[in-house]
Amino acid sequence: MYLQKISLVNFKNIISQTFDFQEKINCFVGDNGVGKTNILDAIYYLSFTKSYFNPVALQNIRHGEEFFMIEGSYILENREEKIVCSLKKGQKKVLKRNDKAYSKFSEHIGQLPLVIISPTDRDLIVDGSETRRKFIDGVISQQDKEYLQSLIQYNKVISQRNALLKYFAANRTFDALNLKIYDDRLILLGTGIYAKRKSFLEKFTPIFNKKYQTISEDKESVDLVYKSQLHIMSFEELLKNNLEKDKILQYTSVGIHKDDLSFDIGEYPIKKFGSQGQQKSYLIALKLAQFQFIKEQSNVVPILLLDDVFDKLDEHRVSKIIELVNKDEFGQIFITDTHAERTENVIKQSNKPYQIFKL
Ligand SMILES: Nc1ncnc2c1ncn2[C@@H]1O[C@H](COP(=O)(O)OP(=O)(O)O)[C@@H](O)[C@H]1O
Ligand SMILES: [Mg+2]
Repeated sequence: MYLQKISLVNFKNIISQTFDFQEKINCFVGDNGVGKTNILDAIYYLSFTKSYFNPVALQNIRHGEEFFMIEGSYILENREEKIVCSLKKGQKKVLKRNDKAYSKFSEHIGQLPLVIISPTDRDLIVDGSETRRKFIDGVISQQDKEYLQSLIQYNKVISQRNALLKYFAANRTFDALNLKIYDDRLILLGTGIYAKRKSFLEKFTPIFNKKYQTISEDKESVDLVYKSQLHIMSFEELLKNNLEKDKILQYTSVGIHKDDLSFDIGEYPIKKFGSQGQQKSYLIALKLAQFQFIKEQSNVVPILLLDDVFDKLDEHRVSKIIELVNKDEFGQIFITDTHAERTENVIKQSNKPYQIFKL
């Protein structure tokens, strides 16, 4: 699978531009702020129907304009596929595949697998647990559609249950039967999601460890641990044990929406005890593991976006990446860099067809 061509209109700072891509390596070089990352984000958009960087969809429309449009033409198993995503102010986002509009965007997720490595990945370490849950959910959703549906349902039921708890408190009332309707749904959905997260992490963690060892050349040991209240007792028991607390808090304090991942180095949290280099290596290992996992599960080689990655790596690691590219582990790659010369020198070593776009 690869992206042959992309056309952008009014996407962030880009007025109107079309790029024809190489099947293997494509680089965008230019000064800070010219829009290199924005182009990667547009490619991300076509896979995930949203921005990796700015979750407020309207803010991805160029300032002062009324709409944006991203049009990509892919080669998928020797067929051409046209994906168009557009957003007009005051209207709903539209996603079309070969001119046919999707009614559910979630059906599109996973069709064009993609992994991005970017400096903002640091959020995974520094942010709260929600960012890490989104990471796991994103990886699983790319190859399991039912998972994403259950998750959407689960979040809906949580909101409904929370609204009911608020209603009980406001009206000084309680209706166990009414609550049970939501609890039963939550238990069913949540237990399923928990089982999928658990089995995913059992497969994912060894891949991650191996990637980290390769990057760090076995210098230190790291851990990736799945934390869930459901490790200790069933969801049913959790809800029962916490009912009084939930009534006071007026929200649901237990469930898979409280899951987290703990990122450790030598048994301590990497957030506090990892050096900057170790944190970067941890994040790159996470993303490369994601890449391999998706590739194995879906049998499609994902597109890889490397945003300013050379900037973060010493020469040793840059050549490691090039080594990987040469081993055909990767398919199509998009790279951004501020140094045209550095990029060209690195890419030349790869002996693969490449194209450099100077912005
Ligand atoms: N909605 C928007 N309208 C116009 N410009 C935008 C919008 N969103 C972001 N930008 C601009 O895009 C530029 C950043 O582009 P970016 O791709 O991050 O640059 P870089 O080449 O450094 O990766 C900034 O100047 C920012 O102001
Ligand atoms: Mg950038």
